Amino acid sequence: MALYSEKVMDHFRNPRNVGVIENADGVGEVGNAKCGDIMKMYLKIDDETITDVKFETFGCGSAIASSSMATEMIKGKPLAEAMQLTNQAVAEALDGLPDYKMHCSVLAEEAIKSAIEDYERKKRGESSPQVKKENGEDEDS
Ligand code: FES
Repeated sequence: MALYSEKVMDHFRNPRNVGVIENADGVGEVGNAKCGDIMKMYLKIDDETITDVKFETFGCGSAIASSSMATEMIKGKPLAEAMQLTNQAVAEALDGLPDYKMHCSVLAEEAIKSAIEDYERKKRGESSPQVKKENGEDEDS
């Protein structure tokens, strides 16, 4: 029996929406302390709808497949709907993950929520504590 579904292998080998969105409206970065894997999500939001999404995942194949599938599931969706996305739904859309790999799909759920929260914070005029400023993000001043 294959350990990973065809869909997991497909999204691992050919991940959708990989990359960075410059001037993203929301950025979320999460990591798993045990395995050390890191996932970063970038959202472009227009009228409370996700018009574009990209990710960078430094992690295992299941994390890459989960991020890829999760981005496909929230692209074009209203924020309220994206906020409801669960890791179980991501894993189901991938036709399942082995039990000990379910935490990889949790990263995808958390990265999306963190990016949406970042957007909400920016909207309220607050700074983004989670997004570390690297090499001068304050270029517009
Ligand atoms: Fe850490 Fe998959 S093993 S995210």
